[in-house]
Amino acid sequence: MDNKRITDSIFNVGCDDKDIDLFEGQYVVPNGISYNSFLIKDDVNILIDTVDKRKTDEWLDNIQNELKDNRIDILIICHMEPDHGGSVQALIEKFPEMKIVGNEKTFQMINQFFNIDIENKKIIVKDGDELPFGKHKFKFIFAPMVHWPEVMVTYEETEKVLFAADAFGKFGALDTDEDWTCEARRYYMNIVGKYGVQVQNLLKKASNLDISVICPLHGPILKDNLIFYINKYDIWSKYEPEDSGVLIAYASIHGNTKVVAEKVEELLKEKYNVEKVAITDLARDDMAEAVEDAFRYDKVILAASSYNADVFTPMRLFLHELSCRNYQKRKVGIIENGTWAPSAGRVIKEELSKMKDIQIVEPIVTIKSSMKNEDIENIDTLLRNML
Ligand code: FEO
Repeated sequence: MDNKRITDSIFNVGCDDKDIDLFEGQYVVPNGISYNSFLIKDDVNILIDTVDKRKTDEWLDNIQNELKDNRIDILIICHMEPDHGGSVQALIEKFPEMKIVGNEKTFQMINQFFNIDIENKKIIVKDGDELPFGKHKFKFIFAPMVHWPEVMVTYEETEKVLFAADAFGKFGALDTDEDWTCEARRYYMNIVGKYGVQVQNLLKKASNLDISVICPLHGPILKDNLIFYINKYDIWSKYEPEDSGVLIAYASIHGNTKVVAEKVEELLKEKYNVEKVAITDLARDDMAEAVEDAFRYDKVILAASSYNADVFTPMRLFLHELSCRNYQKRKVGIIENGTWAPSAGRVIKEELSKMKDIQIVEPIVTIKSSMKNEDIENIDTLLRNML
């Protein structure tokens, strides 16, 4: 990643990571991920957040290229998760005189992750505290659980820049030419999605700030039309559907339930002219994208085989992924398949009943082994009731 000038004094000295197999140990990132880190040149040099230890050397080179023979005087830590806090110790070792700005929880986590004495380096801030460094003035705004408890965002008042931690982040390296919304939504729903209330709290606090630039820790720096991004975060964190459309998510053992799901897709598109229809094979496709689409659309059809007097495993996993992200406010149709004692529908219904404001649309359709003409009539009734 080229060093990026954000303003005359602010630079992104972070790194792209294009060969990570799974981000956070589970998310495929076909276009990589960026770990942003921000250098502010002033009478003193300030750095906001470090990078994953996978990129420590490259990042230190980026810093040195900008600083020449100067040093980092202040490190502000917004988030200690290792994709950002992973190089804290390396930076302390390179600049031993450096002071570190964080909150009580930040320093507790530094002590947990590293074996280094930081007692004489600590500048402990509280929610709403303000500190000037050089000509820049920083305000620290706590954003607990967006996405860890120590998270704070930092607002720089003279240049109106919000350093937003994970908020407004996106999968994809910085040189990726792709739409912001899709990969930002997949990132948000999967990584921050559980914490809608906390994101709403942050949006309320941020609404009192005059912001020209948002600097997230992943993905592009946002400078134009900021209301677009803020509106997306507002919809997502309220758990409102973003689009009218249908996700068909299926879990099929031998392919018969897949045939049913594809018939549902055909009917939605060709008979009912539904414009936005997504279909996902929960055993093979990206589960994180399935979660994203379930939140994106206002309607979902779940089709699954029965298995061990339960529901086929990929569907059970999907229901768990939705539940632990507070899935709510959606219409759901259920199609079960079973050869002797169908159980998938019962289990799906039980799991959905634990979620908030889920409307299960009748009828629950039961397929016995493979789809017949009378099954198509039942599916059609379900779709009519749902649309
Ligand atoms: Fe990008 Fe919560 O770390």
